[in-house]
Amino acid sequence: MEIRVRTDADLPALLLALAATHEVDKYPVLPTHVTSEWLLEGDDGMAWVAEHEGEVVGHIAVAEAEEDPNALSVHRLFVRPGARGHGVASTLLTTVETYSKILAQDLFLEVVSHNSEAMRLYESRGWHRVSGYVATWTAPDGTHPEINLYASPHNDAAHVLHVGRGKPTE
Ligand SMILES: CC(C)(COP(=O)(O)OP(=O)(O)OC[C@H]1O[C@@H](n2cnc3c(N)ncnc32)[C@H](O)[C@@H]1OP(=O)(O)O)[C@@H](O)C(=O)NCCC(=O)NCCS
Repeated sequence: MEIRVRTDADLPALLLALAATHEVDKYPVLPTHVTSEWLLEGDDGMAWVAEHEGEVVGHIAVAEAEEDPNALSVHRLFVRPGARGHGVASTLLTTVETYSKILAQDLFLEVVSHNSEAMRLYESRGWHRVSGYVATWTAPDGTHPEINLYASPHNDAAHVLHVGRGKPTE
């Protein structure tokens, strides 16, 4: 498996993988978000893909946190359903963890409660849940998803406490 910086040529394969991920995992939650606009939103090109035998199998991006100049947030992590369980996401996470360490920036992410495989993976890598809130937006089933904020193992949790918007769950 190879990790490399994402290019525009990767978009068709990434959108196919994202559509399959939406079907299986409701990620993204809204079907209208299976678009290149949503995929590219806010990452300023700081994004990587995982390639296996010439095929793009996974994606990760980071974005500067609007709320904190010393923090980066992980965005758009997904692995094509057929390529899971082989360490693709772990390798992508290692890439952004290394990147944030080089920049001396804290790293955090948000994950919807129904993406339990993702939460298990973060916790197995030493990430910890800092807080949660209920989304103000509505899922296709009429519910308001619960969002969890996670901090990376070396993160100063103070940086993520004020990031979430919506109604806190605790
Ligand atoms: C969450 C997600 C990205 C994980 O992708 P993945 O490539 O399967 O993840 P990994 O293979 O790195 O890790 C998954 C499991 O395989 C195990 N694993 C890691 N390397 C492995 C290897 N070489 N061989 C076998 N298993 C391995 C890991 O230990 C992990 O187990 P754990 O969850 O019990 O800790 C994927 O399920 C996904 O795309 N989900 C939908 C989108 C989503 O929820 N994204 C998060 C948004 S915040």
